[in-house]
Amino acid sequence: MIKFENVTATYTEKVGIFNLSFHIPKGELVFLMGPTGAGKSTVLKTIYKDISISGGELFINGEDVAKIRRRHIPNFRRKIGMVFQDYRLIPDRTVFENIALPLQIEGESKKFIRDKVEEIMQKVDLEKRRSNYPSQLSGGEKQRVSIARALVKKPLVILADEPTGNLDPNVSDEILDLLEIATDSGAAVLMSTHNFPLIQPRKKRFIELNEGRLLNS
Ligand SMILES: Nc1ncnc2c1ncn2[C@@H]1O[C@H](COP(=O)(O)OP(=O)(O)OP(=O)(O)O)[C@@H](O)[C@H]1O
Ligand SMILES: [Mg+2]
Repeated sequence: MIKFENVTATYTEKVGIFNLSFHIPKGELVFLMGPTGAGKSTVLKTIYKDISISGGELFINGEDVAKIRRRHIPNFRRKIGMVFQDYRLIPDRTVFENIALPLQIEGESKKFIRDKVEEIMQKVDLEKRRSNYPSQLSGGEKQRVSIARALVKKPLVILADEPTGNLDPNVSDEILDLLEIATDSGAAVLMSTHNFPLIQPRKKRFIELNEGRLLNS
């Protein structure tokens, strides 16, 4: 589902990632490990086509990402759910409205949206918070909203950049459970983290980066 073949991505003066090759199949959760500056966010940004690659080839669901034309980027991104450390919720919209937003953008019917949002709110245990605004939620609840918003479109790929960076260990574990559940519907999930003790008990594959290079995968 996510395939890197000798991928290099550079910033104006700096190499972000160098000659990376790895493959993440459908339905797998893989962690992206490494110290600050290792290139974790850069990997996720190349997949989202936020930055372009300067060498190698990158395929998402068989599609060559470098060949996607600018006007097709929004369509390509519909297949990807993003989760960030700082949640990035819309402050003046309720939990329900935040989760509904991607479906509204797709122009889905009211009934369809209501059914999907109900279903996903149940999955992440947010039904009781549906009418609250982000400022009224704990960090863990905010991150559950953000995951629900990423999942509601049934994406092929979920990218989570340090999603547990601001959360305590118990809440972090709940977030990992949700990302693991997301693989049941076939999504490939790639989550970056510094936190080895958090991910170690899960016995999942991890890709380790240092200074933009692959240490293992
Ligand atoms: N916009 C940018 N312009 C120039 N250099 C950048 C830019 N973004 C990242 N870099 C550089 O690319 C390298 C990889 O950065 P990246 O953000 O991918 O690391 P990271 O592993 O996500 O780190 P962190 O754990 O701190 O989030 C670093 O050396 C960084 O300084
Ligand atoms: Mg980062």
